[in-house]
Amino acid sequence: MAQLLITGGAGFIGSHTCLVLLEAGHQLLVLDDFSNSSAVALERVAELAGVRLQRDQPTLRAAPETFTLVEGDIRDAQCLDALFASATTFGQPIEAVIHFAGLKAVGESVQQPLRYWDVNVVGTQRLLSAMDRHSCRTLVFSSSTTLYGYPDQVPIPETAPIQPINPYGASKHAAESLLANLAGCSGNTEPIQASEGGWRIARLRYFNPVGAHPSGRIGEDPNGIPNNLFPFITQVAVGRRPQLTVFGDDWPTPDGTCIRDYIHVMDLAEGHREALHSLLNADPQLLTLNLGSGQGASVLDVVKAMEAASQRPIPYRIAPRRPGDVAITLANPTLAAEHLYWRTQRSLTDICRDGWSWQQANPQGYIRQT
Ligand code: NAD
Ligand code: UD1
Repeated sequence: MAQLLITGGAGFIGSHTCLVLLEAGHQLLVLDDFSNSSAVALERVAELAGVRLQRDQPTLRAAPETFTLVEGDIRDAQCLDALFASATTFGQPIEAVIHFAGLKAVGESVQQPLRYWDVNVVGTQRLLSAMDRHSCRTLVFSSSTTLYGYPDQVPIPETAPIQPINPYGASKHAAESLLANLAGCSGNTEPIQASEGGWRIARLRYFNPVGAHPSGRIGEDPNGIPNNLFPFITQVAVGRRPQLTVFGDDWPTPDGTCIRDYIHVMDLAEGHREALHSLLNADPQLLTLNLGSGQGASVLDVVKAMEAASQRPIPYRIAPRRPGDVAITLANPTLAAEHLYWRTQRSLTDICRDGWSWQQANPQGYIRQT
């Protein structure tokens, strides 16, 4: 089993993936600056996995442990060097990195493009430089459906044009391009390409990650008012917010509301495990894969499914369309199924049941403390 560095492992997708990777027997070193998360999430991951969470300083790591948390920034080259070096000193060099750390709010990216490029692009570049210095050349990268902008076709294949429409999307595109350059591969032509320099890289383009671990112990805990549909709906169900605003009922869809491809976060976490195992057992290559279900649900479908899961009404009002929205996004998930033997297992009903368990048990989310 491998020693892995997980950047942003305390966040929503990272925490669920840490659990899946611990259950698969890997040793994890998490690097997070807690700018959008709490260490409580990882304490709960440790409890679910039946392991101890060791908290360390980058330069003062006490001993190799199954699950170690280091507070630090991916842009801090000294911190990264110390992590790679200490792992090697313990005789367990870091074999691969799963890189979740980043900023993800579209509206905020329009207000603060420099900050988004700094964390998402410069941060990724610093991480890759440190990996290169320490001869660790296996990486799973968090990319997004946001790259497809206003898609020309749905379901969307990996070969669809890349046309980001906001700074967040542009920063993910830049990071993806850097990864392709590093692997000596050409742009977005082939989703599976042989790479150079020993790099094994998976660029995973997530559709809409939602839901929570079925225990209700870990889940999504956005700061402030949620921008995204699913956490907003669960907060209405639990009484934190009076009603949902539905952005438009005049879209060219059967019920007039937008359709998305919602993917259970546990399916997504398992997709990371499969992508990692595939890379570790393959010749150097650059993989680019959609991770989605291929199934669409409208905003009103999600409202109804959450009403059924929570046994509570979800009041809503119709408002004008949200600028930048797309009527329908849907993954073509065929390639991930063929290449990773992975496909989603969980339905919208499962998503709402588990998302509701988390929200009901943690109405205020994690208590924000590191
Ligand atoms: P999240 O905000 O919950 O997790 C990101 C984590 O990275 C947080 O724990 C945060 O504290 C940490 N972080 C941020 N900047 C950092 C830095 N400079 N140094 C160290 N740690 C830092 O987000 P998430 O939903 O778990 O998303 C994880 C990744 O997946 C992100 O890169 C995001 O862009 C991408 N993604 C998310 C979605 C989504 O809808 N959630 C969709 C597509 C892609
Ligand atoms: C979001 C991101 C996008 C990212 C995608 C997948 C934004 C603006 N875009 O978009 O970059 O690639 O997730 O992670 O954050 N809705 C409401 N009321 C609400 C919130 C949302 O009606 O309060 C509607 C939206 O108009 C949309 C649907 O619900 O039709 C889903 O919205 P959201 O959860 O924000 O996801 P995306 O629009 O796919």
